[in-house]
Amino acid sequence: QHNLQTSAQVLPKVSDFAFAFDIDGVLLRSSNPLPRARKALSYLQEQRIPFILLTNGGGKSEKERVQEISDHLEVPLDVSMFVQAHTPFAELVGEYKDKCILVVGGEGDKCRKVAENYGFANVLTPADLITAFPNLWPFGSFQNYKPYARALSNSTLSPRSYTPNLTPPPLKIDAIFIFHDPRDWALDTQLLLDLLLSSSGHLGSLSPKNGNPSLPNNGYQQDSQPPLYFSNPDLLWAAAYHLPRLGQGGFREAFEGVWKAVTGNAKLEKKMFGKPHQETFAFAEKRLARHRHALLGAGRSRIGTEGLKRVYMVGDNPESDIQGANEFKSPAGSQWRSILVRSGVFDEGKEPVHRPDVVVGDVWDAVEWGLEREG
Ligand code: G3P
Ligand code: MG
Repeated sequence: QHNLQTSAQVLPKVSDFAFAFDIDGVLLRSSNPLPRARKALSYLQEQRIPFILLTNGGGKSEKERVQEISDHLEVPLDVSMFVQAHTPFAELVGEYKDKCILVVGGEGDKCRKVAENYGFANVLTPADLITAFPNLWPFGSFQNYKPYARALSNSTLSPRSYTPNLTPPPLKIDAIFIFHDPRDWALDTQLLLDLLLSSSGHLGSLSPKNGNPSLPNNGYQQDSQPPLYFSNPDLLWAAAYHLPRLGQGGFREAFEGVWKAVTGNAKLEKKMFGKPHQETFAFAEKRLARHRHALLGAGRSRIGTEGLKRVYMVGDNPESDIQGANEFKSPAGSQWRSILVRSGVFDEGKEPVHRPDVVVGDVWDAVEWGLEREG
């Protein structure tokens, strides 16, 4: 009884403030831990100060990614304290039940598996399409795709052009999700163009609207464009190379250029997820509050009723981490502060458009700054 009593006295009280850490450029550069990253996370865990990792990265399951990061940083982490670019896509499964989605990006078949784990039941990838229809892209190195292509459900799905009074080509894709950075920008650009110019996602058809949704339908059927979801807006990110690398936002900008050239400047209809967008921060705050409750539950007889009062967002990208924290309207009423570190993409010589509450050297400086404000 005495030992139990002692350990209960020693456990620090779970704080009513927390941290949210960006990963690339704050904790890691590719898979290399940044100095003092381990020290920062370990200290917060000892002090029972909740934190989550909030990244625009992705491309594999949350479980696999968290295990990798935990191994690199030698800090125990679990999925309850982790949100990556496509994690919020899991909330869209209901909308696409029994519908066919195209999942783009990432290594091999990994993102299809992530989407299926979320609950999407009918997932195609560019590898499936180029393997089934090699002439979709004249320069396709489709033999590289064969190992992770899946045969289409039936071979009569071959795309062909049609006029509105005939039945459309049967292969219909109801939505396009960019889960991670595309590995073949050419093939993926061609497929996105084909589908967004198609009649309601029927691969091989061509809507007379030419990408302009404001034009009247062609009378034969609702000529809508399949919704296009991006998971990560980052134009640049901090990888192992000493200069920033193009991210998923680089692919999006390139595609927008092709889209404008082909459609004569039609606006690209798209739904953006990832930092700095409100949906991603709201999703992260819910997960952070749940994680904090779990910490409270572990150390106390009842779950604490007080909410999460303040969150310190630590990031290296002013247009992603800092803008998102500065502009976030917290449904839970918590106050978010933004801390910009110099260990990632932030270019010291430029005045950041989105001004952080403070600029510091690295993640440990960021934790110290936050703790000083908490007194
Ligand atoms: O693809 C990852 C990159 O966009 C940046 O990720 O962790 O800095 O949000 P992160
Ligand atoms: Mg970053």
